Amino acid sequence: MEISVLQGQIQKQRSPALVVNLFQGARPGGATKAVDQALGGLISAALASGDFKGNNNELLLLYPGKNLRGFAARRVLVVGLGKQGEFTPEIARQAAGTAARRLQELGVEEGATALHGSGAGGLDPEAAAQALAEASILSCYRFDHYRSGDQGGKELKALRVVESDAAKLGAIRRGLRAGSTIAAATCLARDLGNHPGNVATPSYLAGVARRLARQQGLRCQVIDRRGMEKLGMGALLGVAQGSAEPPRLIVLEHNKEAGGRPLVFVGKGVTFDSGGISLKPGDKMEEMKFDMCGAAAVLGAMQAVASLKVPRYVVGLVAATENLPDGRAFKPGDILKTLTGKTIEIVNTDAEGRLILADTLGYARRFQPAGVVDLATLTGACVVALGSHASGMMGNSEKLAEAVRRAGEHTHERVWPLPLWDEHREQIKSDYADMKNTGGRPAGASTGAALLAEFADQYPWVHLDIAGTAWETQTRPYVPKGCVGLGVRLLVQLARSWKGGGF
Ligand code: BES
Ligand code: MN
Ligand code: ZN
Repeated sequence: MEISVLQGQIQKQRSPALVVNLFQGARPGGATKAVDQALGGLISAALASGDFKGNNNELLLLYPGKNLRGFAARRVLVVGLGKQGEFTPEIARQAAGTAARRLQELGVEEGATALHGSGAGGLDPEAAAQALAEASILSCYRFDHYRSGDQGGKELKALRVVESDAAKLGAIRRGLRAGSTIAAATCLARDLGNHPGNVATPSYLAGVARRLARQQGLRCQVIDRRGMEKLGMGALLGVAQGSAEPPRLIVLEHNKEAGGRPLVFVGKGVTFDSGGISLKPGDKMEEMKFDMCGAAAVLGAMQAVASLKVPRYVVGLVAATENLPDGRAFKPGDILKTLTGKTIEIVNTDAEGRLILADTLGYARRFQPAGVVDLATLTGACVVALGSHASGMMGNSEKLAEAVRRAGEHTHERVWPLPLWDEHREQIKSDYADMKNTGGRPAGASTGAALLAEFADQYPWVHLDIAGTAWETQTRPYVPKGCVGLGVRLLVQLARSWKGGGF
């Protein structure tokens, strides 16, 4: 979708559809008022009838007909913004997403829109434009690579923001560019997540990383089995042992020239998690193709950070493998030696994410990071604790956690703190090794993080457990079912707001 800005008056646009907005209980103002007047009061009439109230995400679709002189648009779509006093950037995103999806469903291929929230809503035009671009693109996302035949659905190809105030055009253009770039990166992450496990293998992810590097000027290194052996990554190799697909550790570096300590993103990339010898039950096992959504978020974020030329040193690390049962697979009771030398007793081969992250967090030491944020679909326990509206956050740095929390508020990818205490470390003590890979059912998200903490001990670190947030089973205003691309926008916001220096 191409999103551009044009100076002009929206009611004069010749377009298959105009989109304007309305606060609940308010009279039409700004662009909406101008359109209402040009329509001879059609919007006011709908309000007076009580049929349309301007509730959040409520839509009113009008067909002006040919009798209105000077009105050249075929449709007018009014989207509700809810109560003015409760307005947020997230409501602007939802409104833009709801409207864009409706246009696409109608088969409309191009539209003209007002900028939601920058008038009475009080959003700064750059932020409003970013929100509009992000949500319009994200809401129209479809994944039909594997459906044969004609899908029939037309694509909303172009959206023009119409703004009367020339002074705002520069800011709007900047916001649209950032929003479009970040949304494209989120769609890349969604694609990676939605592709099935037989396509999105560890080597496939490595191929995507290499392509990104070529296109965006990132440095890329892919470490294979032999490289992992040399590095002593016994935990990642242990998980990979039962799979015929070779594992990959992907290293992407952006703007190393900026110097200083980097911000490092780490993603769990288990391209299919069967549980291994501790096999999962069959019900919903197909969803475990999404067990690489952390990796997808990191790859998406690196694309956006590079494309936006964020003036900071940022590193992306992705640990990619399958977790399958096999005659050669690792087993409960096995003891694995990690890159840092610490040993882990395997109690349950289904707690594999923390194993591959242990080696990757150990590997991150060599970058002397200013901060490390890992994203992982790590525990079912986190889904039980927080459901799908917040990711679990644990770590060792209040300052980095606060920065991550803020970024998540900004993008509405909310995080919520869970404890990480010495008692959780106690739970993973082993009789045979330095630690064991599960601490039983109680506080499962925290004991998972406690294992990671053993390897993230040399830098500020935050762990996001995205098991409940990474994919959706129900469509939301700008999030279709399937992989959400969760974390891309948060990580990019974190990198863009980071002033450099320590956390
Ligand atoms: N990938 C799963 C976690 C998961 C489960 C994510 C459901 C999303 C939905 C992870 O590898 C796993 O299997 N964790 C185990 C850990 C347990 C064995 C300590 C779990 O949560 O059951
Ligand atoms: Mn597992
Ligand atoms: Zn897993």
